[in-house]
This record gives sequence, C-alpha cells and structure tokens, in this order.
Amino acid sequence: MSDTSAWKFETKQIHSGAAPDPVTNARATPIYQTTSYVFNDAEHAKNLFALAEFGNIYTRIQNPTQAVVEERVAALEGGTAALLLASGQSATTIAVLNIAQAGDHIVSSSSIYGGTYNLFKYTLAKLGIQTTFVENQDDPAEWERAVRPNTKLFFAETIGNPRINILDIASVASVAHSAGVPLIVDNTIATPYLIRPFEHGADIIVHSATKFLGGHGTVIGGIIVDGGKFEWSKNVDKFPGLTEPDPSYHGASYTTVLGDGIAYIIKARVQLLRDLGASIAPASAWQLIQGIETLSLRIERHVKNAQAVAEWLDSHDDVATVFYAGLPSSPWYAAANTYAPLGVGAVLSFELKGGVDAGRALVNNAGLFSHLANIGDVRSLIIHPASTTHSQLTPEQQLTSGVTPGLVRLSIGLENIDDILADLSAGLEAARSAAASNAA
Ligand SMILES: Cc1ncc(COP(=O)(O)O)c(C=O)c1O
Repeated sequence: MSDTSAWKFETKQIHSGAAPDPVTNARATPIYQTTSYVFNDAEHAKNLFALAEFGNIYTRIQNPTQAVVEERVAALEGGTAALLLASGQSATTIAVLNIAQAGDHIVSSSSIYGGTYNLFKYTLAKLGIQTTFVENQDDPAEWERAVRPNTKLFFAETIGNPRINILDIASVASVAHSAGVPLIVDNTIATPYLIRPFEHGADIIVHSATKFLGGHGTVIGGIIVDGGKFEWSKNVDKFPGLTEPDPSYHGASYTTVLGDGIAYIIKARVQLLRDLGASIAPASAWQLIQGIETLSLRIERHVKNAQAVAEWLDSHDDVATVFYAGLPSSPWYAAANTYAPLGVGAVLSFELKGGVDAGRALVNNAGLFSHLANIGDVRSLIIHPASTTHSQLTPEQQLTSGVTPGLVRLSIGLENIDDILADLSAGLEAARSAAASNAA
C-alpha cells in the first residue's frame, strides 16, 4: 500500500478513512444503522469508557459510518482529527463551547453567516460568553484591540457569506497566537479543495457539511477539524477545560492523557457531544461520503460556472456591483490569488441598480434558479438575504455583515452555463419591466 498521507486530494476524497468492510467485504462504506455496540467482555467495556482503548460504545458519541467522514475530511484539510455533527450550527457551537465558558470572551469577524452572528450575539451571551465583533476583518489592529484577558478564541469565515471577502488567515492567526488563543475558521464556502486554512496558521476548522461537502442539497451536517498544532498545554491558565482534570470524565486531563494534537476533538466528542447530543444520523453521514467522493470535480465546475456568471453580471447594464473575489475589481482579488488560487467558490452576490424592488422582482422571476435558503447544491439557487437569511439582524448589523437592502445572493450550480445565463437574463428583463411598471 502506498503512503496514504502522500495521496493527492482526488485520491484522498475517495479513499481516506475507508476500507472494505472486514466482515462482509462490502467495498463501499455501509450505513452502520445501529445505536450501540456489543462489548467483547467486561474489561473491554471498562477500557472503552476509561479512554484506555478507542472503540464504539453508542452512536450518539461515535459510529463507523460517521468515522469515515471524520477521517476523510481530516485528511483533506490536513488535520489530526475531526468530529462530525448534526449540522454546521452544532459544529460552530461545540467548537466554541469546547474552550469557552461563562465569564469568557471571544472575538469574531462581523462578516459571517447570519445564523452564526445570532449564535454569538444572543445565545452565547445568554450562556455568559461575550463576543466582540470586528467590523473590518482585514485590519489586524482591530483584532488586537478586541483582545481581553479572558478572550479564548478568534473566529472568521475563510470566504465570507455573503460578501465573498477572503480572510487574510496568516495575519489574523498571527494576532490570535500573540494573544495565546486559537483561530477557528468556517471553511464552508471554500471547502478544503479551494482553501486549506491549516497551511496558513488557522488552528480549528468548522464546516457546514450541508453545503458543498454533501453537495446535493439533501443532507444537513457539520464538522469540526483540529489542525493539531495549537499548544493548549502551554496555555494552562486559559484552557483549564482541556488541561485540568475533568470531573465528568473520570478526572482525566485531556491534554495529559491524549496530548495536544487530538485532545480538543476527543474532549468535544466524549464531553460535549455526550452531553449536548447533536449527533448525526448514520444515513446522513453516508450521504456525505457520496458527496465528498466527487468534491474536487464538482467544485471545479462550480467555480468555472460562478466565474462566468460573475463576469457576465459585471458587464450587465442593470447591475450596480458584483461581490466575487474572482473579479479583478474585488478588493479581495489579491488575497484570493494567495489563498484560493484554484478559485473562490460558487457563491456570489450583487446589487441591482433598481435596488430592493428590482432584487425582489428578480427573485420572484427565477426559473431555473431555485428560490431557497441554502448554498452549495448541484442546482443554482437565489435568495434576497436582507429579508431571509439575515432578517433577524438589525439593519445596522446587516450592514456590518455585508448585507445591503438590495443585495441578491446566488449559489451557482452545475447546470450548463448557457442555461444559467439565459435564466438570469430573463429574470433581469422581468425585473426591469416590473420596475418600469412600478414607476409608471
Ligand atoms: C458559512 C456557513 N456556516 C455555517 C452554516 C450553518 O450550517 P447548517 O445550516 O448546516 O447548520 C451556514 C448555513 O447556511 C453557512 O452558510
């Protein structure tokens, strides 16, 4: 067998973490549809519970189908370990709660998915965790100023939703590390095919696997991946949950028993997943495997189509601004060349000259484009964020997240580009007629 860690991306996305089933010889990974696993004997049971031996106990905490996704995404991201969860939201929640508790503080870019903004601003605040939002994530000094003695982590998206701004990962990671805290990034829009954040200094990655990893708009899931390089044990005052004995787990100190490389993910699994229960169904994990096997092929086509749409919109008379870092006019074009040389993904947004009314008319006249609240489907999708995904935010919060009133967001699918452009063209025509009849 060749050195599996030297495999290229396309090989890893098909093979990492999986082998023919040892009992049935089934080649594809089976759906292990079971709640629990028989112990060999009392000693085996005792060792599993004591973390003296790794193995399956109960599907809320781990499952062999789920484990394949975890090993595969960890391999694709270049991390040490991963934890697959019920949704992207549960991945972000557990990634934060794993190292922050009541009385603590976190620093986040404000240019993030609306659901993550709500989680940080309202729900974590109710749990006693305060968030400072950095409004210009490109300004390292703003991150630095936000740090407090009780700060536990930095958070940002590698490609922001919906502004399509590219995070300067190395610069923000450097500020985080000077403050003794890890940088957690949401790599959902990029996927590991386009951006590999650990190579630039990020410490933990979260994904909504619901989007491009699954890729077909059929399954909700989320994943946390640890790069394994953050030295929790060098920051004992900051991360007692990882370094000090855990009374809820036989008094074990995760970093002492497991080492810095995998302590974070094991703690998230055996403590938080055990207690909060956001586990993914084995059938959903299996569907994610099907998606990941073709990730590079799909992303190549997604990027090709999205770049063509961005250029077409950019030269359209009815369009005021296009937000897509693959366009030379984007402020993040240079950062895109550094961090995402293969392309900046399939999500883009734009403002019509006709403003909110024209944007809404376009959404109402979508034909091939499905009007729905998701990204990362094989199908092309369209939405008006201010009245939907980001509607729980105040108008000021919307603006700091990059959501202007007339913004329209697209997630470009894998259809033929001619059909995608023809549909947009017809939609823009209808939006212009609607605006003209409103004015009359
Ligand atoms: C960038 C990003 N992160 C996280 C999430 C949350 O993921 P999920 O819907 O799987 O909970 C989303 C959902 O839209 C997202 O776009």
